[in-house]
Parts: sequence; structure tokens; C-alpha cells
Amino acid sequence: MIEIKDLSVYFTTNSKEWFKKNTIKAVENANLTIKENTIVGLVGESGCGKSTLGRAILKLLPLHSGKIFYQNEDITHLKNSEFLKYRKELQIIFQDPYSSLNPRFTVFEIITEGLLTHYKMNKEKAKEKAVEILEKVGLKSEILYRYPHEFSGGQRQRIAIARVLVLEPKFVVCDEITSALDVSNQAQVINLIKEYKSKNPLSILFISHDLNIISYIADIIAVMYLGKIVEVAKRDSIIEKPLHPYTKALFSNIFKIGEFTQKKEVLYGEVPGVIQKPSGCYFHTRCPLAKEICKQEIPTMQKVEDSHSVACHLVS
Ligand SMILES: Nc1ncnc2c1ncn2[C@@H]1O[C@H](COP(=O)(O)OP(=O)(O)OP(=O)(O)O)[C@@H](O)[C@H]1O
Ligand SMILES: [Mg+2]
Repeated sequence: MIEIKDLSVYFTTNSKEWFKKNTIKAVENANLTIKENTIVGLVGESGCGKSTLGRAILKLLPLHSGKIFYQNEDITHLKNSEFLKYRKELQIIFQDPYSSLNPRFTVFEIITEGLLTHYKMNKEKAKEKAVEILEKVGLKSEILYRYPHEFSGGQRQRIAIARVLVLEPKFVVCDEITSALDVSNQAQVINLIKEYKSKNPLSILFISHDLNIISYIADIIAVMYLGKIVEVAKRDSIIEKPLHPYTKALFSNIFKIGEFTQKKEVLYGEVPGVIQKPSGCYFHTRCPLAKEICKQEIPTMQKVEDSHSVACHLVS
């Protein structure tokens, strides 16, 4: 469905010295395949580049380099006008259901806007679709003519989800869609996504800090560290046999597995700055197993098993 090859996204920011600019390599040489009807969970600490990667795939950010394929078509350099026909199929749901809904629009307007513009649907048909999708996300059709401020956070997030799903997208980036919700709303939102997906083919890049949620929802898990994808594998492989020391540390905190159970302190070290990243393997400054080579050479992703890849000098 989606394939990215050597994707890099850089930002330029002002530095303390007025004549100099800083380059933030937010995403570096990322490779990832998201198959049909699959949920890929993307995890990693704050600032590691998850949202940047998600937005770049949807062409919401300019790339430094690399390629994006959608259904085997290279969409990297499509102009906005050429990409427009895919916009309804490639969607994003954001974390904050307060700022993502226009407060001056009714639920009806919010949900049908995309249908009217992308599908040129008439209002009657659009209303039918809106009622149908509201039901699927657990909301009643009575709310159609109410405004966002009349709803709780959980309900607003359902409206935001309905607005995207009504377009019948093929690929959706879910960027921390449960982070602003309480636990019971989190579970409901996750289950409604699962339920929807069981009936409608959909591929998802599911970005979250919450490893419990990722482990519950994802088929494949990709782990990022300081802009690089360091490990990708099926959910069970990541949980049962994580290979990268960073993945081990991350997941040992929730599953208490492997050799890192007694060594949780590995993640208490500071995340290095994004402007001056460490040499070699970016994780070597916090890795309890780091050797000389880790300080000198950047490890590349290597395939260890069918769908398990890792970038670590210590894995052979
Ligand atoms: N528009 C921007 N301009 C400059 N730097 C940016 C911009 N957007 C993101 N960055 C930087 O790029 C890096 C990656 O940010 P990103 O938001 O992708 O991380 P993240 O993994 O989604 O973090 P979080 O878990 O906190 O959402 C960070 O260092 C961030 O400060
Ligand atoms: Mg983010």
C-alpha cells in the first residue's frame, strides 16, 4: 500500500548566532513498507521524528530526499494538482480533538465537507453517509446539527475519526489519537478503529508513546530513535525477541522481558540533542553494550528474519 525508501526530512532553524542556521535531521533514511489492511505501530521517545515521518508520507512536509510509493506508484514528486485525487485516500487523524475541529462548523458540516469537495456528492447522499459513519463510531445522528464545543474530548475525537473514515480512506496516519483521552475513552477509540478495520480494508500508521496500546493494536512495530528507524518486526517478534538494545529497553519497561529487566536504567540517560547527534550508532551513548565500532560506524538496517530488520552492530 505504502512504501518509503531512504526518506529524509530536515528542518532548518535559527541558531544563537544570527549568521548561522541549524539543520535538524528529523527523519533520516527511513525505509518502511505498510502492507494492505495492516497496522504498523510507530514508537519512540518524544522528538524522535514520528510525526514528521507520518506527515512526510502524506506529502504534508517537503522531503530532503527519498521516495514515497502509494500502490506502487511513485508519488514523491506529484504536484499538488496531480496528488489531489489521492488526498481522500490518504488521511491523518491528529492527537488533539479540540483544535482539529472547526468550532464554527456543525458536526454535519465537519463530516460532509470532504464528501462534498472530494466526491462531489449531493447534500442528501452526504447526510446519509454522515449518519452511517456516526453510528459506526458510536454516536447518534441527533448530534448532526450541534457544534464541537458541546462535546467531550472522547466524543470530539470520534467526530474527528468519523470525518476521516467517511471518506473511505485506504491509508490513515493516526498520530497519538488517544493521548488526549482518559483510559476508558482510549479503549473505546482503539476498539472502534479495530472494529472498523475488521469490516473495511484499511492500512494504518499508528503513532503512539503508549507501548501497551501499540502492542494491542499493531500487526507490525517500527521503533525510531533520533530520526532513524532502528528496528521493524511483527508485533510478536518485537515483544518476544527484540534485538536492538533500545527496543529491549523500551519494551522491558512494560513486559519485563529479557536481559534488560534488571537494567532499566539504560533509558534514564538523556536523549542526545537532535542538532548534534552522536557519532556512529546514535544510541551508543545510552547503550550498556556499546563497543568501539558503535561509536564510529553508523549501523545500517539488516534483515535477520523474514520480516524482522534491525540496525545494530551487535546483532549478527
Ligand atoms: N516545523 C518544524 N520546524 C523545526 N523543527 C521541527 C519542526 N517539526 C518538528 N521539528 C523537530 O523535529 C524533530 C522530530 O519532531 P517530531 O514532532 O516528528 O517528533 P515526535 O517523535 O512526533 O515527538 P512527540 O512524541 O513529542 O510527538 C524534533 O527535534 C522537533 O523539534
Ligand atoms: Mg509527534
